[in-house]
Amino acid sequence: MPLADNELLECLRSADHIAVLTGPGVSAESGIPTFRDALSGLWSKYDPADLATPEAFARDPELVARWYDERRCMVARCRPNSGHFALAELQRIILSQGKRFTLITQNVDRLHQAAGSKDVIELHGTLWLCGDDVEERGPAFTEFPPRCSCGGRRRPGVVWFGEKLPGHALLQAQKATGSCQLFMSLGTSSVVYPAAGLVDLAIQNGAKLLEVNLQETVSSSRAHWSIRGKTGEVLPRLVAEAFGKDKNP
Ligand code: OAD
Repeated sequence: MPLADNELLECLRSADHIAVLTGPGVSAESGIPTFRDALSGLWSKYDPADLATPEAFARDPELVARWYDERRCMVARCRPNSGHFALAELQRIILSQGKRFTLITQNVDRLHQAAGSKDVIELHGTLWLCGDDVEERGPAFTEFPPRCSCGGRRRPGVVWFGEKLPGHALLQAQKATGSCQLFMSLGTSSVVYPAAGLVDLAIQNGAKLLEVNLQETVSSSRAHWSIRGKTGEVLPRLVAEAFGKDKNP
């Protein structure tokens, strides 16, 4: 049985600009824990106030640096899943038709780029500690917090609670959201702002909203299409149904 109705397939094929917002659920099938899921989410085991705030880093830089370095090494062992590959394929198809495709992510794992997606807008930074001289998938650090070549303390490249999102990335994301005809919200709870505000903006600007999530979210009732399922299963099928091919490896 087809997953998508004709209206959704037509929208995927005819939109001049598709914007996509991804969240931790998209990387879940790669083995990366989500944040708020009741049993497996990171924030059900740890208090973000102890690990993901500038105050936590000031209070206990070693603890915070060790936690993020463990995550960095864990993520380095993970590979993109079929959902990441389907989005990269969708981008290739849309761009090859001379249309626009914008991928905005809250994820800090760079798995979209590893799958081949281009020009990804990273709203929450990246796990790889700031500074180009850090090997992305290099070994664990031996000093906590690690030092920068200038002698200063190096911190994770993620946006922490209470911090502003990178201004340029947010602006780019808002512009794209304001001009798309189809907005896809994938594997995100839609409760963390300002990223979740993109969904509101898309709807205000008359875009159609497609949500793919394992469960209902605060955005589900406003979505034109709300598909329950794993993005790693749903996205390859959607691309195949809309464009007649499924080139996932
Ligand atoms: P959560 O981890 O709280 O939510 C993950 C969402 O993905 C939930 O709605 C799940 O139902 C859904 N999900 C899980 N596995 C899925 C799958 N295989 N396919 C489809 N959906 C799936 O993440 P968010 O609240 O969306 O920020 O995260 C937003 C931000 O909050 C994160 O970027 C992170 C976190 O704190 C920072 O670290 C700055």
